[in-house]
Order: sequence, then C-alpha cells, then structure tokens
Amino acid sequence: MNAQIGKFSRLGFVLSATGAAVGLGNIWKFPYITGVYGGGAFVMVYLVTILLIGASLLIAEMVIGKRGQQDCVSNFETLSPDDSKRGWKYAGFTLFTGLVIMTFYSVVIGWIFYYIYLTFVGLPTSIDDAKAIFDQLYGHKPFLQIFFHLLSVLFVGGVLLGGIKKGIEKTNLILIPFLLFILLGLLMYAMNFDSFEKAVHFMFAPDFSKLSSEAIIRAVGHSFFTLSIGIGSIMTYAAALPKKAEIYKAGLMVAFMDTFIALIAGLVIFSFLFQFGGEPAKGPGLVFISLPVIFAKLGMTGTVVAFVFFLAMAFAGLTSAISLVEPSVMYLEDRLSWKRKKAVIWSSIVYFIVGVLVVFSISDGYKDWLTFGTKSLFDVLEFSVDSFLMPLGGILIAIFVGYVMKRDIVEGELLGHMGNTVFKIWYFSIRFIAPLAVLFLAYNAMKI
Ligand code: TRP
Repeated sequence: MNAQIGKFSRLGFVLSATGAAVGLGNIWKFPYITGVYGGGAFVMVYLVTILLIGASLLIAEMVIGKRGQQDCVSNFETLSPDDSKRGWKYAGFTLFTGLVIMTFYSVVIGWIFYYIYLTFVGLPTSIDDAKAIFDQLYGHKPFLQIFFHLLSVLFVGGVLLGGIKKGIEKTNLILIPFLLFILLGLLMYAMNFDSFEKAVHFMFAPDFSKLSSEAIIRAVGHSFFTLSIGIGSIMTYAAALPKKAEIYKAGLMVAFMDTFIALIAGLVIFSFLFQFGGEPAKGPGLVFISLPVIFAKLGMTGTVVAFVFFLAMAFAGLTSAISLVEPSVMYLEDRLSWKRKKAVIWSSIVYFIVGVLVVFSISDGYKDWLTFGTKSLFDVLEFSVDSFLMPLGGILIAIFVGYVMKRDIVEGELLGHMGNTVFKIWYFSIRFIAPLAVLFLAYNAMKI
C-alpha cells in the first residue's frame, strides 16, 4: 500500500463507498427500468435481491479489501492460503472491467453535462423537440459528445491524482451530502403534488402478474450493478481502511443508502411524470426526453429544478466513475510500481479513446464500421459487462470468500460485529445463495 495516498476516515469510507454505489444506475437506470418492467413487483424483487445477495457480496468484497490492504490482484494472491492456490491472483484482473464500464459510463455523464448546459440556454418545450434534441446529440453530434466525455475524463482524472485522502475522500465528503440534500429537496417538492400518492402506489404496490422472467433477471443484474459489485471498486476502497475499522456496519449503511437514493429518485421522477402527463415506460430516454419537457413547462422554477436535478445526477455519476478507475490506478501503482500520475494518465487515455469509439459507434456516418452483427460497440461493451464480466467478478468473490479464504480470517473481520447468527446467515448466502444467483443471472442474460 502506497503510504502517500493515505487512508480513509470512517465517515470518508462510508461516503466514498456510497459515492461508488450511488450513480447513474440509481438516478437514470433504476427509474427507467422500473417504468419498463411495470413498477411494484419489479421493485420488490430488486429489494429482496439487494437484501439476500447484494449486501452479502458487498460485505464479502470489503472483507477481501480490508484484509488484503493492497490492489485487487495482490489481495487475491496474498489471501490464498497456500501456494497451489496462488492462481487466484488472476481473479483480480476483473479490476479492468472498471475501465470497460467507463468507456460508456463517461459518455453518459457527458450527456448529463450537456443537459446542464441546456438548462442555461433553454430546455425543449415539447416532446417532439425533446426527442429531436436527444436524437441529435445521440446520433448526430459525435464531437459534442466527445467534448463532454473529455470533461468527465478530466474531472475524474483530477480527483484521482489527489489520491485517497485528498482526492477521493475529499470529493465524496463534499458531493455526497450535496447530492442527498438536492434529492431530499426534490422529494419534498414532489410530495406536494397530487400525483405523489400515485407514484408511491406505482413503485410499491406489487402486481405480480406484470412480473416477467426478464424482469427478474434485470432486477438481479441491476442490484449488482447498483451496489458496484464484482470489479473491485469496493475492494479497492476497503483496502485503504485503517486496520481497526469495521466493515459490517459500513456495508449495511452503503447498501441502505444506495437503495434509499434509488427509491427517492424513482419517487421524484414518477411524481413529476404522473403530475404532468408522461409515460412511465419510456425507457432510457426517460430522464433525457420526458423530464426536460416537464421542467420546461414549469417556467423559471422548472429551470432551477432541472439544473439541480441534472447536477445531482452528474455528482452521482462522477463519484461512481472515480471508483471505476481507481482499481486500475492502484494496480498499476502497486504491481508495476508506476507513479500515481502516470497510472492516472494512462488509465484515462485508454478509456477516453475507447469511449470516443463508443461515441462513433452510435453516430450516423461512422457507425457502420463499429457495429458487430446488429450491436453497436456501445451495446457490445454494455452487454459484456452485464452478462459476463460482472457476474464473473461476483462469483469469483463469493467462491473466494466462501471456500478459499480461511474461515477464521473471515470470521475475524466480521464475527465480533455481526454476532453468531447473522454471521451464519451471511456465510450461507456467500457460499450457496450468491453463487447460484450469479449463475442464474449469467445463464439467463445469455438468452436475452
Ligand atoms: N454503482 C454505480 C451505479 O449505480 C456504477 C458503478 C460504480 C459500478 N462502480 C462500479 C458498477 C463497480 C459495477 C461495478 O451507477
């Protein structure tokens, strides 16, 4: 562990891990997939998965990081109990999935920057306008997207240069309370609408006849993505915890905050939609097409609301983005002895360039070169993360903590805080439920 980049304080860690977990997944993706898959029943499956599988895996990742205190590859290597198991270090290479995610995640953060800019120059006032603006950006303005993608790369890189303490912790200590404040403010505003009750009903009254098997797979997959499981984000953060820190409560807190924020974002968005007549099942364009029109209808107040909403989304995205790149940076520093600056610059260059290709893969005039079968490079990368790389990372973590690491070491990190019964339930979940769930997820994802 590189001493100069520092260790987290307890609050710093909880907020930074919350920052990693709370991202576009919560504010953009969760509301729109809840809309697409019909509301309540989908939300129920999602909550159960978070509780039974997600939170356990999150804590398992923390155990590896906290105990290993190094980069992901070294953690798997040094925590393997004997030489014959040292091959486990290859599990650590799932850390590069973070850069793969960043190739499109950063592009989407760029779209948010563009919408923040639009709140100053004028939001679209009709659905047709809004569609046109989004389609223009998405399909026809590659260089504008690249410009905003670059801004996101620079911000994330700048934070990472500061290391754990002065970069990551400091940024999260500021942005996460801000994000919470904005979302709670929006919630209070939305609670005044008549439609608030309808939004609550839509999200929490389960209608199981609407629950397709695809909805279940999506709910399970999303619970992994939203908690940042499987690629070493949380593991890398936990590696910068002081030895005496305890991870059980931190893990629960992060899972709770992540779920809480997703639910608030959902309630806010659906209240606005039901109040001003939008369709819940609009898909990925929900926050980029339906919402801006509503905001524009509200005049000056709407513009302010739009600004803080997109700002909150940008904060959520950026704090997650930081956690996606840090595992690579720490690996390059620890294993290849690169200086932090060099590690940050090269990681950034790599995902910036592939991100540029991602942009071209959805842009008219270029996309033919970057389409594989029927899928654009954007889709190919997103698909391989969801259905292959993340489940792979998840299952490796579960097997490693459940079967490879010595039980007394695992107990040493948790038993004192969890107590016997909770520990047993958690251990059972890690050994049996989580691996089966991941297999189920990977198998079914391949069929979609
Ligand atoms: N959880 C974040 C979101 O909801 C994204 C993210 C950050 C992530 N780090 C991760 C996803 C690690 C998977 C693995 O947007």
